[in-house]
Amino acid sequence: MTSSQKLRIAVLGSGSGSNCQSIFNAIDDGSLNAEVVIVLTDIKGAYILERAANRGIRNELIDCQGFKNKFPLESQQALAAQLTELNIDLICLAGFMRLVKHPLLNAFPNRILNIHPALLPAYPGIAAWKQAIDDKASQAGCTVHYVDAGMDTGEILMQAYVPVLSNDNAESLHERIQVQEHILYPAAIKSAAARLAL
Ligand code: GAR
Repeated sequence: MTSSQKLRIAVLGSGSGSNCQSIFNAIDDGSLNAEVVIVLTDIKGAYILERAANRGIRNELIDCQGFKNKFPLESQQALAAQLTELNIDLICLAGFMRLVKHPLLNAFPNRILNIHPALLPAYPGIAAWKQAIDDKASQAGCTVHYVDAGMDTGEILMQAYVPVLSNDNAESLHERIQVQEHILYPAAIKSAAARLAL
């Protein structure tokens, strides 16, 4: 793609979708030359679907074949075919809590990003902000990285630092990390788009 073309994004999330909203906002204020073509979730009724529906964006539930945490390879294969058909340039994981494996990774090499609420490689996995509090860490933050077959591994694209305050609990820290996430993710997507245009 050339830098004047709109980046075609698919967003995958499992929850409230505030990071998805930050992508919408960056598109609206003109700082991100992109279109969110489809929003997908693995969780029935997740609020991220409503955010997409409110903008008239196609939104769908991924068929995970009844598995609670697993992301079956057949489901990933079907999703890869659907997103290829839609000419998606970049897949953005925004609070998506299943592990992406080779069917999607092979179909979208260096074209899948994830946002994680920690300064990776510290605190991969679930509830990273709570891990930081439990560990009495003095610093926290968020990371946008390219996705590989590991859990929250893959080349780091951008990070933002958030200090842990003496009166922080897990919730207050996560709230402040999210403020930074909402700035970081659109900026990182812009940077990934520039790389695609090379
Ligand atoms: C975000 O804090 C995101 O970094 C985290 O889930 C939250 C989703 O919030 N992702 C992970 O922990 C992935 N390992 P949102 O639904 O409001 O965007």
